[in-house]
Amino acid sequence: MLIQDLSITYKTKTRTIVAVDRLSFTINEAEGIGIIGESGSGKSTIGYGIMRSLPENGSVESGSILFENQNLLGIPMRDFDSKYRWKEIAMVFQGSMNSLDPVFTIENQMREILYTHRKDLPKDKHSEVVENALNSVGLDPSLVLKKYPHELSGGMKQRIGIANALLAEPTLLIADEPTTALDVVTQSQILQLLKKLKKEKKMRIIVITHDLSLIPNLVDKLIIMYAGQAVEIANASYVFEKPLHPYTQALIQSIPKLHSSDKNIRFIKGNPPDLSTVGKGCRFRDRCPKVFDKCVVDPPKFQVDKTMVRCWLYQ
Ligand SMILES: Nc1ncnc2c1ncn2[C@@H]1O[C@H](COP(=O)(O)OP(=O)(O)OP(=O)(O)O)[C@@H](O)[C@H]1O
Ligand SMILES: [Mg+2]
Repeated sequence: MLIQDLSITYKTKTRTIVAVDRLSFTINEAEGIGIIGESGSGKSTIGYGIMRSLPENGSVESGSILFENQNLLGIPMRDFDSKYRWKEIAMVFQGSMNSLDPVFTIENQMREILYTHRKDLPKDKHSEVVENALNSVGLDPSLVLKKYPHELSGGMKQRIGIANALLAEPTLLIADEPTTALDVVTQSQILQLLKKLKKEKKMRIIVITHDLSLIPNLVDKLIIMYAGQAVEIANASYVFEKPLHPYTQALIQSIPKLHSSDKNIRFIKGNPPDLSTVGKGCRFRDRCPKVFDKCVVDPPKFQVDKTMVRCWLYQ
């Protein structure tokens, strides 16, 4: 799947903000991509954009999503709904574990999804598909099917959220902050699960998170977002060894080093710019320890080996 030049804006009464600015990347079968960045950097917006699920005031201003010779942004919404949504691309939304409907059992909710999104599937197959989805996220169907959401733990609800996304066997799964608010053990179980899906079902997986320490074992590539722009796109192993963008370097340094005596977390001073007022030049320059005169001009994308970096240091 090839995402090219994707720009997404939100309009409010007083202003328009560019939440995602000309983003391009590819994701192959059985590949995991992590999208990392601070709050408000545009991570969820990328997911909504790919899912064609932007809120009313959001719109795709440019770009294409090429999948099997189709531009998924160019086809009528009806076709996208019937052929791609959930079937090819599914998303576990941020906070989705709190969005299960409290008045229906897990079984009812899952059957409802199948009923709406798998019209191709004969009804007598529904139980089997629901049970398979629960099994694949490590839940015992007999223990959860008759339960209501409030009877389940946070980790179980998050697994249900993922099981729901798997019901139609998508080829791309977007997981938005899949482990936030879960304890450490449950976090690692969820990450293991995503890893297994990637490997065994050859699924493409996009994990969105602000916590870089969660994903080294899960993702192959990283997209580092800053103020709506990808400032670095690189192989994950490469980023941890040799981060190029000063923002990426600061992010890596802010991961607490569990096995060293240095337990200080180094936060990056300052805040990202207000997206409604960003002007020309590098968006990170006010916080950048390596800022120099060139930075008042918008940095283009530079290619350093296999890494894309948006920083004048690499001209
Ligand atoms: N419906 C909306 N209307 C106007 N602005 C919005 C809307 N949704 C998001 N934004 C703005 O767009 C920018 C990107 O938001 P987005 O939710 O994609 O960030 P994020 O990286 O997912 O943040 P977080 O880590 O907090 O989830 C932010 O500045 C946010 O305030
Ligand atoms: Mg978000």
